[in-house]
Amino acid sequence: MAGMTDTAFRRLVKRHGGCGLVVTEMVSSEGLVRGIDRTLEFAEYTEEERPIAIQIFGGDPEKMAAAAQIVEGMGADIVDVNMGCPVPKIASHNAGCSLMREPEHAAGVIAAMVKAVKIPVTVKMRAGWNDAERNAPALAKMVEEAGASAIAVHGRTAAQSYSGSADWDLVSEVADGVTIPVFGSGDCVEPEQVVARLRSGVAGVLVGRGVLRNPWILAQAEELAAGRTPRAVSLEDRGRFLFDYIELLQHERVRDPEGFRHLAPCTAHPACTAHPACTAHPAPCTLHSAPSSHDKWIVNKIRALGSWYTKGLENGSRLRTAINSAGALSELQDVVAGFFFATDNQPNELPDMAHERSPDTSRQMSRYF
Ligand SMILES: Cc1cc2nc3c(=O)[nH]c(=O)nc-3n(C[C@H](O)[C@H](O)[C@H](O)COP(=O)(O)O)c2cc1C
Repeated sequence: MAGMTDTAFRRLVKRHGGCGLVVTEMVSSEGLVRGIDRTLEFAEYTEEERPIAIQIFGGDPEKMAAAAQIVEGMGADIVDVNMGCPVPKIASHNAGCSLMREPEHAAGVIAAMVKAVKIPVTVKMRAGWNDAERNAPALAKMVEEAGASAIAVHGRTAAQSYSGSADWDLVSEVADGVTIPVFGSGDCVEPEQVVARLRSGVAGVLVGRGVLRNPWILAQAEELAAGRTPRAVSLEDRGRFLFDYIELLQHERVRDPEGFRHLAPCTAHPACTAHPACTAHPAPCTLHSAPSSHDKWIVNKIRALGSWYTKGLENGSRLRTAINSAGALSELQDVVAGFFFATDNQPNELPDMAHERSPDTSRQMSRYF
C-alpha cells in the first residue's frame, strides 16, 4: 500500500505470522526505467519478506515490459500490475484503474510483460471504473489469455473510492470465470472476516487497511482458521510494535551489510555505492542512501501509520493528535511510551496538547487513495 507498507513494515508484519505474500508499495514503471532515486526505494525489499511481489504502475507496454525486467533482475518473486489506483495523478496517465477502461490495451500491457520476463505477472484491479463499467469479469478473462498468472480484485469501482462496501459476489464471479487463482480484496478488517472470505471460494484474501490497524490480524486469522482462539493483543504489544517499527526505520536508508537489501538500479546517481553495480566511487550517494533528515522522515512515517493504527483504540483520537503534534522523534517516543506502557499508578498519559496543531496525515494520504 502506497505510503504505508515499506520494507520495514512488511518485515514486522511477517514476523508476527500468518502472512503469505507481501506486495511492495506501487512503483512507477517510468521511474524504474529511468532510475529515478525517489522511485527506487519503493521497490526495495529484503530476503525475509519472501515471497514478494513488486507492484508497478504505468500504461506503456514497452516501459512496463522494461520495468518488469528490472523487477525480475532485482530477484522479486512476482511482478504485479496496478489496475486499481483511482487517484487522478495516476489514472489520468493511462495507468492504474484507467487501464480498465481500455481492456484491449490493458491486455496488451500484460502480454508485453509476460513476453519479457520469466517470473509470474499478476494483476490487481477494481470491480471496474464506475457502476456503468463493472468489467472486472471480462477483463480478468482477457488478462488470463494474455498470460497473467493470478488476479486480485478489490470489489469496489474507482468511482466508489472507499464508499459503500466491496462487492464479493463480483469477486466470486471473476473467480468462476477464469482458471488462474483469484484473490479478493475489500473490507477484511477483522480476523473473522478474513476467514469467512477465505472460505468463499477465492484462492486468497488481500488484507489492506486491517493490517494497518492491527498488524496481528493475519496471525489471528490463521489461528481462527485452524480452530484455535486467536491471540489477544495487549496495549503493550501495540506499543512495542511502534517501537520496533521506529527501530527498523532507524536502520533504513543507512548502511546495510552486503546482500541484505535488494536495490533497484540507480542510474540517476552513478556514483552511488549503495547500488551494487557501482564500485568505482567510495562515497555513498546520499540521495539514494539516506534522507536529509532521517528523524523527520521517521516521524512522518509514524504519523502516516498512526492515522490508521489509532483507529478503534480507546482515546485513539487523542493519541493520533499527540502523534501528529510531536515534532521530534524523542517526543514521539515519549508519546508512545506514555500511552502504551502505562502502569497501575500512572494511567495512560498523553502530553498536554496546548501546542496542538492539526494533523497533516490527511494531506499525506490524499496523495494516494
Ligand atoms: C493507504 C492505502 C494505500 C494503498 N495503496 C495501494 C497500492 O499501492 N496498490 C494497490 O494495489 N492497492 C493499494 N491500496 C488498496 C488496497 O490494496 C485494497 O485493495 C483496498 O484498501 C481494499 O482493501 P481493504 O478493505 O482490506 O483495505 C491502498 C489502500 C490504502 C488504504
